[in-house]
Amino acid sequence: MATPSSFPPHTTQGMCCVLLRAAPFLQHGQSLSSSSNVRTWLTWRSRPPGCRFDRDLKWRTGAEIVPVHCTSANGFRVTRAALDDAYRRAQKRRLRVKGVLITNPSNPLGTTAPRADLEMIVEFVAARGIHLVSDEIYSGTAFGEPGFVSVLEVMAERGAAAADVSDRVHVVYSLSKDLGLPGFRVGAIYSSNAAVVSAATKMSSFGLISSQTQYLLAAMLGDKDFTRSYVAENKRRIKERHDQLVDGLREIGISCLESNAGLFCWVDMSHLMRSRSFAGEMELWKKVVFEVGLNISPGSSCHCREPGWFRVCFANMSAKTLDVAMQRLRSFVESTTNGAAALRRAAVPARSISCPIAIKWALRLTPSSGDRKAER
Ligand SMILES: Cc1ncc(COP(=O)(O)O)c(C=O)c1O
Repeated sequence: MATPSSFPPHTTQGMCCVLLRAAPFLQHGQSLSSSSNVRTWLTWRSRPPGCRFDRDLKWRTGAEIVPVHCTSANGFRVTRAALDDAYRRAQKRRLRVKGVLITNPSNPLGTTAPRADLEMIVEFVAARGIHLVSDEIYSGTAFGEPGFVSVLEVMAERGAAAADVSDRVHVVYSLSKDLGLPGFRVGAIYSSNAAVVSAATKMSSFGLISSQTQYLLAAMLGDKDFTRSYVAENKRRIKERHDQLVDGLREIGISCLESNAGLFCWVDMSHLMRSRSFAGEMELWKKVVFEVGLNISPGSSCHCREPGWFRVCFANMSAKTLDVAMQRLRSFVESTTNGAAALRRAAVPARSISCPIAIKWALRLTPSSGDRKAER
């Protein structure tokens, strides 16, 4: 099969790309280095619900994950101090840190990592002699400035200085998000590390990608015109739906972290909580799920330390469905004291459709084929 060296648009020269049936990155009993009994990873911005990294990396392998705490004070950007702090916490627990795991663009923030932050993270792993895994599964979704920068570009710019760390920086990717093909179960690891490539190659034999899938993908990804226009159109649609969500939330007094990628927004709903605590966050989450009928993810499920942040996905629904969701949220906000006050401050008139919180929400959330056609 043709390796997707041009899709996503990464710098992959000199790297080996192993295509895998997309699965948890480390399989049972495996680690990037076999020299340690305890495998510990520092992770930045892991994802809800239930923290996928916990599920993918921890439960099956026994690896420990130590969150790198970021705060709203700097837009949840990772800092050297936060990395050092996570490293120290791991050491206190007598864990031997094997590497840093990041998602760029971030899930759940929907932001791309600035080049300077990536350089700082590479410096950190170089200084500590550990690995860096960059999960770039959302790289093709970056629709706004600053654009997406792959850690591989940062490595290429390091020139000779990259030599000390080049076999400890790895990228994982899959076709699930950018191409909307999660059912194909196709992923890739880009690495220059012979041990990683060899382990991944062996792993891949337990979950081979069918010849039919390979044939189809080779034809599709080999068509440069198609991939170029597909990615451009996909970004345009994601941005459109993103703007619809952000504008709709602003109108009801709810703000979001400014974002430029991903299929979701990181939304501050702390003023709607009865108490500014994680208990208050869970209480609000339950209300939004069971009373409003919207499935959003509480920040605590991805180790966010500030109660009141939620991840709201916007890309899996039609414009009409998102409108219905906004109307329901407006009704809910109006019913809460703080929410109503924020709504008055937002001072934007309500839209004309009034939609009561309906019991048949599940049916209305399912886009009809008509909706889908209208979106094209
Ligand atoms: C950051 C991140 N990495 C990996 C995955 C897993 O994707 P796949 O469907 O290819 O297993 C997801 C899926 O939600 C994700 O958000």
